[in-house]
Amino acid sequence: MVDNSAAFIYKTNAANRTNGEDMTKKILMLSLAIASLAGIAEAAYTFKAYNGDITFDHVNHRRNFTCSDCHNGPPRFIELDHDSAHKLCLGCHRKLGVGPLKHCSDCHKKE
Ligand code: HEC
Ligand code: HEC
Ligand code: HEC
Repeated sequence: MVDNSAAFIYKTNAANRTNGEDMTKKILMLSLAIASLAGIAEAAYTFKAYNGDITFDHVNHRRNFTCSDCHNGPPRFIELDHDSAHKLCLGCHRKLGVGPLKHCSDCHKKE
């Protein structure tokens, strides 16, 4: 086996020689990593679909509802496919008579 320890130490030292800006960047990246581990939701999600991607504005949707209106159990990532997405999204839009409902292209946007 090749001994890489010297190279490793060299790299570690180089990495430690950071200036303030690098450090700020590192702290920012670390907090982003922690945020994603804690399951903090994005402001918006894009769902890929061959007939046009869908953008879901989580912030806007959260305003008028409680988490459990959409999340079963603890609020976290929901696996969505054609059927479950249409059931969730269109189900609520239909019930309340709001949002995209009739026109596929109100949700499915082709570039
Ligand atoms: C309220 C928003 C909304 C409307 C309106 C809507 N869809 Fe969707 N649709 C979605 C979401 C969200 C998905 C899930 C994408 C995924 O699988 O992640 C989806 C998925 C699909 C898929 C699967 C695409 C793929 O790549 O697997 C098809 C096909 C589809 N929709 C057709 C339609 C048709 C046809 C209409 C109109 C009659 C329509 N949709 C209206 C939100 C919508
Ligand atoms: C109108 C429906 C709706 C409401 C209300 C809602 N969410 Fe979501 N949430 C979603 C959808 C849709 C997704 C996006 C993608 C997915 O999970 O497939 C999502 C994603 C998330 C994620 C996953 C983050 C990630 O990227 O892994 C978290 C965490 C989350 N929501 C928390 C909350 C919390 C906390 C509340 C209440 C304050 C809330 N949500 C209210 C629909 C909703
Ligand atoms: C619990 C109810 C509810 C669910 C679930 C829901 N919506 Fe909505 N949606 C609304 C309401 C209410 C509005 C109108 C709010 C407004 O115009 O500010 C809306 C508006 C929208 C709009 C147009 C305005 C905007 O925010 O861009 C889009 C696009 C949309 N929804 C997509 C979706 C998709 C995609 C899903 C599923 C992933 C979904 N919605 C699930 C209630 C819901």
